[in-house]
Amino acid sequence: MSQRPSIAFAKFSAPKTGTVFVLSADEGGLSDAARACDPGKTLERAFPVAEFTGKFASSVEVLAPEGTSLDRLVAIGAGKVSGLDEYAWLKLGGTIAASLRKATDVAVVLEMVGASPSGKDAASLAAGILLRSYSFDKYKTRKDKDEAEPKKPVKVTIQTAAPAAAKKAFAEVEAVIDGVLLARDLVNEPANVLGPVEFAARAKELEALGVKVEILAEREMKKLGMGSLLGVAQGSPRGARMAIMQWNGGKPKDSPVAFVGKGVTFDTGGNSMKPASGMEDMKGDMGGAAAVTGLMHALAARKAKANVVGVIGLVENAVDGHAQRPGDIVISMSGQTIEVLNTDAEGRLVLADALWYCNDRFQPKFMVNLATLTGAVMVALGQHYAGLFSNNDELAERLTAAGQATQERLWRMPLGAEYDKLIDSKNADMKNIGGRYGGAIIAAQFLQRFVKETPWAHLDIAGTAIGSPSNEINQSWGSGFGVRLLDRLVRDNYEQ
Ligand code: BES
Ligand code: MN
Ligand code: ZN
Repeated sequence: MSQRPSIAFAKFSAPKTGTVFVLSADEGGLSDAARACDPGKTLERAFPVAEFTGKFASSVEVLAPEGTSLDRLVAIGAGKVSGLDEYAWLKLGGTIAASLRKATDVAVVLEMVGASPSGKDAASLAAGILLRSYSFDKYKTRKDKDEAEPKKPVKVTIQTAAPAAAKKAFAEVEAVIDGVLLARDLVNEPANVLGPVEFAARAKELEALGVKVEILAEREMKKLGMGSLLGVAQGSPRGARMAIMQWNGGKPKDSPVAFVGKGVTFDTGGNSMKPASGMEDMKGDMGGAAAVTGLMHALAARKAKANVVGVIGLVENAVDGHAQRPGDIVISMSGQTIEVLNTDAEGRLVLADALWYCNDRFQPKFMVNLATLTGAVMVALGQHYAGLFSNNDELAERLTAAGQATQERLWRMPLGAEYDKLIDSKNADMKNIGGRYGGAIIAAQFLQRFVKETPWAHLDIAGTAIGSPSNEINQSWGSGFGVRLLDRLVRDNYEQ
């Protein structure tokens, strides 16, 4: 991966070398701490020339400022001094990371006229720097042409009035960021490297953080009757796995909250094969499982005071002579039979058994599943909202609120008996596709047949987890969508 910046927090002291970032709100010029870095006050002279007014995420820079030995002095606009929320601080960190250029020695002076950002703000800013700095370049052996030497690691010191508080807050925040970056790594990894077996091994690594991890192989799943999941896997030589991750940070007898992920490490479509164009994106068809794994990492690393279960179904949807055929009928773990009319509607077949298993074994307070489930959700919502389907208003509202807070946004879509009817089959209890319309809803109805009365929500993240448009805090194809969202859901509602 790209070199990760190292982050430190310190009290104010005017840096002598390197690159310095200072903040300026639209209500004032530079704080005393910022002015101390710029004895000639060149930055403030530059403000009117650059028409810099402190507007959020705008910037102005002075190279080799007179009277100092600094390389660069950069002012970043913070907009209004007060009322910057967590996401605004992430974005400011992202803006700084975007203008690092070749700097290796960086100070960020976190003080504005009229405002002293808190330790938590400083930690969020640091998180934004880490999120934006991520890139998946482990397979690039040749350097970019303009890069004479390998990139040196960047050292960022955030100067703040509250370095101790910032350090403490950052330890928690960093746990979540590591979870996001883990999810991004998993999604970006090509399918020749990361198949079901290799993904399961990555999940197993969470044991180092105190997560209990069990891996089920085909034999055990067969015994449990997971015919729906195994039917998808049977056309691939790479096997199937289910990883069950448990973090028990809450009260011993408290029933857990559960997260379930679709982990199709590659989706060819099977015998109902996908067209060639764009099929490479289906290496990311395990984005739901990646989010669940990243979330478990985050919760364990920050020692969340909650009991949490993560279940991921890992298969490759490939084609050989053993692959399932359209028209095949499989028996799911629930006992319900499914007529597979399209082998490319495989995610729901994997989740059917994963959801049933999770519910049956853990009787969780609720289940939230994440899946890159349908192209149809992208037709409906584009790439900026994930589809939310739920049988429980309270859970849906909590998820929506967490989505607003983290800007991993959700839009609720309907469920209902009229849609459910569309998957009744004449040959089995149900079929795995419906008619021409409402494809994202039909997929959700299918899942609902495997959750009984347990409060449940399905997040269709096909548009948000992969191929996401880059933004202030993400430049990577795999966005890690869902980790910050669900960490927030747990933190705000389910921790003691
Ligand atoms: N993994 C795909 C959905 C997908 C498509 C995710 C594009 C991300 C980007 C899923 O398994 C699938 O193939 N769904 C079909 C369902 C159809 C056959 C009913 C789809 O959306 O076309
Ligand atoms: Mn498919
Ligand atoms: Zn798929």
